[in-house]
Amino acid sequence: SVLIVDFGSQVTQLIARRVREAGVYSEIAPFSMAEEAFKRLDPVGIVLSGSPASVLDDNGPRIPDCILESGRPMLGICYGQQSLMHQMGGEVLAGDSGEFGRAFIEIGDECALFDGLWNVGEKHQVWMSHGDKVTSLAPGFRPVASSPGAPFAVIANDEKRIYAMQFHPEVVHTPDGGKLLKNFVRHVCGMAGDWTMAEFRKTKIDEIREQVGDKRVICGLSGGVDSAVAAVLIHEAIGDQLTCVFVDHGLMRMGEAEQVVSLFRGHYNIPLVHVDASTLFLKGLEGVTDPEKKRKFIGKTFIDVFEDEAKKIGGAEFLAQGTLYPDVIESVSFTGGPSVTIKSHHNVGGLPERMDMKLVEPLRELFKDEVRELGRELGLPDIFVGRHPFPGPGLAIRIPGEVSRDKADILRKADAIYLEEIRNAGLYDAIWQAFAVLLPVKTVGVMGDGRTYDSVCALRAVTSTDGMTADIYPFDAAFLSRVATRIINEVKGINRVVYDYTSKPPGTIEWE
Ligand code: XMP
Repeated sequence: SVLIVDFGSQVTQLIARRVREAGVYSEIAPFSMAEEAFKRLDPVGIVLSGSPASVLDDNGPRIPDCILESGRPMLGICYGQQSLMHQMGGEVLAGDSGEFGRAFIEIGDECALFDGLWNVGEKHQVWMSHGDKVTSLAPGFRPVASSPGAPFAVIANDEKRIYAMQFHPEVVHTPDGGKLLKNFVRHVCGMAGDWTMAEFRKTKIDEIREQVGDKRVICGLSGGVDSAVAAVLIHEAIGDQLTCVFVDHGLMRMGEAEQVVSLFRGHYNIPLVHVDASTLFLKGLEGVTDPEKKRKFIGKTFIDVFEDEAKKIGGAEFLAQGTLYPDVIESVSFTGGPSVTIKSHHNVGGLPERMDMKLVEPLRELFKDEVRELGRELGLPDIFVGRHPFPGPGLAIRIPGEVSRDKADILRKADAIYLEEIRNAGLYDAIWQAFAVLLPVKTVGVMGDGRTYDSVCALRAVTSTDGMTADIYPFDAAFLSRVATRIINEVKGINRVVYDYTSKPPGTIEWE
């Protein structure tokens, strides 16, 4: 395995992800616990992360001596490079300007990290983010790449198998960064690269068993992929010590609530309490038109219902959640210098504190596509695992204005037709999210010999990698007119269909 020593960079998880992509198991340990992790894991190699701190501060984090003197291959990234130089006899100085953002480095010499990738004399794009910089190298190191702002952009000590770089190879803005990390774990550390999601599953199952012991766990299902994957994994670890509670607000897409119930009860035989709370939710939403009020009401009611059910079940010490890594980091900003905001996001906000429960969050290290892979590994059907993301408040935020059961039924039908056509056209997986919106606007139409006066339906489809930014999906006109015709012909209550051409930013993906 590879041990990643975390000095507090907000992208340390990305290092772990890139190492996983290279087929090698990695664990992250905060620098304060790195010594213990090193002894427990006995890693083949070590990666030292970036940090908002400065090695020039008296209390800047340090590489533990046992790691520094271990003789294992090491890769220092940004602060990791600076701390290697600082602790091994080189020099680091505060830069007067720093370098933030895209930079080009020139390859000056050969190096194991560049094998099969970069050649001497070439220039390559990397992502820099540093104030301090290395100004003289520790004995045994040689520079192998430089940039105008960082003469020691990449350095190497082949004898000790220690390499370090000023830039961040783990972020996508360093296009070859994943390959550099792969060269480190494969060529420098000599690891086989045969680790898979199947191994992750085993490791997590052991961890869950260790954390939970013989105590009971409750998991709130939202109907989405993340909470379902978390629940199936936890059930595999602790069996019927887990009870799932599915709070059904009646604002899911067509057939999805049923799918969750049959999957859990039928396929996996996981104890599931299915609470049909649709009347409670829809009654409470009567007269509510403000989007924030809708969201708040739904969030609060979800917690109330869940808490009631949890009390009925009784005796659970743990609450399981499908929190993903992007929920853990709120913003990834390289330009903001040392002050970073990191916020833990609770899908059922405030509940663990209120009920005095501990959290089990086995997906905290994963990104959406990795959760899908894990879901497939656990045998969840493709059609379920590959589902587009769906917001917690459900269709309520796709019905601007007042929500009602009738409107939700109309929207569900239009949405199902739209998604069916997208699947038939083979486009579902190329789209991040596609959905219909039912507008609180009526327009005049003519059908057969009669006049109609019905609602407008808007269609939205976007591509995205993380939901933070999005582009519209450019359907061809024939596709859109086919969908529009079907919706107007088949869904009573809709007589006009429009397509939303707004990217994010400036729009958001959802309409509310
Ligand atoms: P926006 O509309 O902010 O959405 O561009 C970005 C992504 O987040 C989803 N979304 C939510 N997910 N609870 C959720 O669990 C919410 O309240 C919520 N609001 C938006 C949205 O579907 C998109 O994938």
